Amino acid sequence: ENEATPFERIGEEKLSMLVDAFYHRIGRHPDLMEIFPDDLTETARKQKQFLTQYLGGPPLYTEEHGHPMMRARHLPHPITPKRAQSWLECMSEAMDEVGLDGPVQEEFFSRLILTARHMVNISEEEL
Ligand code: HEM
Repeated sequence: ENEATPFERIGEEKLSMLVDAFYHRIGRHPDLMEIFPDDLTETARKQKQFLTQYLGGPPLYTEEHGHPMMRARHLPHPITPKRAQSWLECMSEAMDEVGLDGPVQEEFFSRLILTARHMVNISEEEL
């Protein structure tokens, strides 16, 4: 009881820096840039809201956009296993860049691996 949430342990400022560093990489990644909008401002804003609640902070994403239904929201975007891997690599590098480490990073990243796998909706062959 009364334990700090991962969101509290990371802090709003570092989470915000993380998301910015992450989309900076996404926007340049050869496997990913083609499925993302050129302007990632709004995507980053929504991701900050989503990750806040994913990490146990206030439900900012749901308040503005309703139930996350993340797999359903990703279905319009062809997500191959390779793209999921590239997404995770961008996140891992962004975590290093902002100095997010230790148990909170490990716990967070392990969950993201599972969530990223869950978003895969097409094979390389079908693409
Ligand atoms: C939106 C790709 C995994 C959270 C999007 C969009 C794309 C995308 C193309 C639409 C961007 C836009 O039009 O603004 C991917 C790929 C993934 C992946 C290739 C690889 C597995 C994840 C994971 C999470 C996540 C693991 C959460 C932990 C979000 C959120 C949005 C989003 C919150 C915004 C949804 C909205 O429009 O309300 N993603 N995504 N994505 N993604 Fe992902």
